[in-house]
Amino acid sequence: MNKFRNKKVFIWGASKFLEDALSKKTFNLSFCKGIFDNDKNKIGQKFCGFNVYSPDEITSFAPDVIISAVVNYDIISEIKKFTLSKGLDTEIISINELVKIRLDKPNLHFKNNREKLKEILSFAKSQTANIFKIPSMLTLEEKHLLYSLARYYYTDEGKIFDAGIFFGGCTEAFLKGLLENKKQADKTKQIWAYEYGYQVDTYKNHRLFNNSLGIKPLKNDFTNITFSYLNTLGHYDKINFIQGDILKMQYPDKIEIMFLDVCKTPEVNFRMQQLFTRLIPGKSVVVQQDYVYGELPYIKITMGYLKDYFEFIGATEWNSAVFMLKKPIPPEVLNINPYDKYSKKELIELHNYYNKYLTEEQIKKVKESELLI
Ligand SMILES: C[S@@+](CC[C@H](N)C(=O)[O-])C[C@H]1O[C@@H](n2cnc3c(N)ncnc32)[C@H](O)[C@@H]1O
Repeated sequence: MNKFRNKKVFIWGASKFLEDALSKKTFNLSFCKGIFDNDKNKIGQKFCGFNVYSPDEITSFAPDVIISAVVNYDIISEIKKFTLSKGLDTEIISINELVKIRLDKPNLHFKNNREKLKEILSFAKSQTANIFKIPSMLTLEEKHLLYSLARYYYTDEGKIFDAGIFFGGCTEAFLKGLLENKKQADKTKQIWAYEYGYQVDTYKNHRLFNNSLGIKPLKNDFTNITFSYLNTLGHYDKINFIQGDILKMQYPDKIEIMFLDVCKTPEVNFRMQQLFTRLIPGKSVVVQQDYVYGELPYIKITMGYLKDYFEFIGATEWNSAVFMLKKPIPPEVLNINPYDKYSKKELIELHNYYNKYLTEEQIKKVKESELLI
């Protein structure tokens, strides 16, 4: 961190994010002189080895640089205003700027697509940079997974199928990865992003909207919001935003990365199953966002039913499971709905087929959905 040599550098925010980033050794901040935080319970204590000070003490320290470890909303201008009001001309930067350095230097050595996908998953697990701005229902790990797939895996042999984008959080992750994928720089409309835009208020998301996103639950069409978020990304040319019911929309001929966060009904799930004919054997990856999740059992049943055709690569801590297509699936196999073919006992076996690869915590979640078969 030569940039900071001989400077008085402090951190803003004794945050969980900071704690995680330091424990994962995402970067070294040992040159920092302390942390400012408004929390009375933290002031005067140690946090990650640093003394925590009240912002009221800032003039006595007169920092040259403050690294903000408060993420998820733009606090930089507020800190700047605060320091100016104290007569200080402190440089304020976001901790994300430091983390980006790490994102640019992945240590990904690939043997084959399967190994590549495995490395991408563990790479996503180790990342703490929050470079994503659009409100989203995904965890940071899931966003890093999508980012890394677009950046390190995608070859443009098929499209990126991004289904159920809500405000576009997943699309942002794909796009940001794609923009760093040097071989794809001049290509357009690689991401096919689907959103219906209506059913949020029936979708048990009130708590999420109020607590996590700070937005009132929406009753009406929200695709205008999605559209304006996608526009803020500044690369609309790379996105094919398809508004409407995915059951009635057009699909790409070839799909290389298929992110499914849309299988909220058995009908949609079955339609998506039929689209697996468009996947590329030996390469295409399907990310089932609702896999490690206590509802929607038919998603797990579909993947168990197709176990001979897919390889289970792994799962993020919450929700997403990653599969690679090993060999082509005959259309007649995809045209069967496992619910029409198997007994309840068999369906339960298919539902739990991949549990052997999951952690105890994850299995607990998956088991909840077994009760709904
Ligand atoms: C869990 S949210 C997606 C979250 C999103 N992937 C993110 O990154 O935040 C699921 C989305 O799927 C959409 N959806 C559900 N059924 C759909 C359908 N039949 N056609 C298109 N979109 C649909 C919903 O409107 C909802 O926004």
